[in-house]
Amino acid sequence: MSDFEPVVVVFACDYCAYTAADVAGRMNLTYPSGVRILRVPCTGKVEQQYIMRALEKGADGVMVAGCLVGDCHFKNGNLRAAARVKRVQTLLDDIGIGAQRVAMVNVSAGQGAKFAEIATDFSKKIGEMGPNPIKQGAKAAA
Ligand code: FES
Repeated sequence: MSDFEPVVVVFACDYCAYTAADVAGRMNLTYPSGVRILRVPCTGKVEQQYIMRALEKGADGVMVAGCLVGDCHFKNGNLRAAARVKRVQTLLDDIGIGAQRVAMVNVSAGQGAKFAEIATDFSKKIGEMGPNPIKQGAKAAA
């Protein structure tokens, strides 16, 4: 069994996913320590290059976590984010990194338990994939 602990960057929208992560904390629910949450006003603000940059800078996986479909406080930011995530997934497959390293998820503010479960499952999946080769390349060049 490998002791590799993946770094997972979560772009979490302030209104729902970030609050859900906070609720998880208040419920004393845990998720892997490699999960790093970055609060954004809305997932609609997460550009494709932010996701790629996170992977280049050391993330083994990236999750974009927004409000439930129909609940985005900026109308359709989460739908725009989902489309961007799909484009990044296609790109990652094209360059052989693997689309599964990036995911779009939707949670409501009260779903702390669901957030903890999703973060744990995603981190586990990334752990099984192994270190992100882009990150390894960046380390070798440093
Ligand atoms: Fe949450 Fe837009 S405000 S995804």
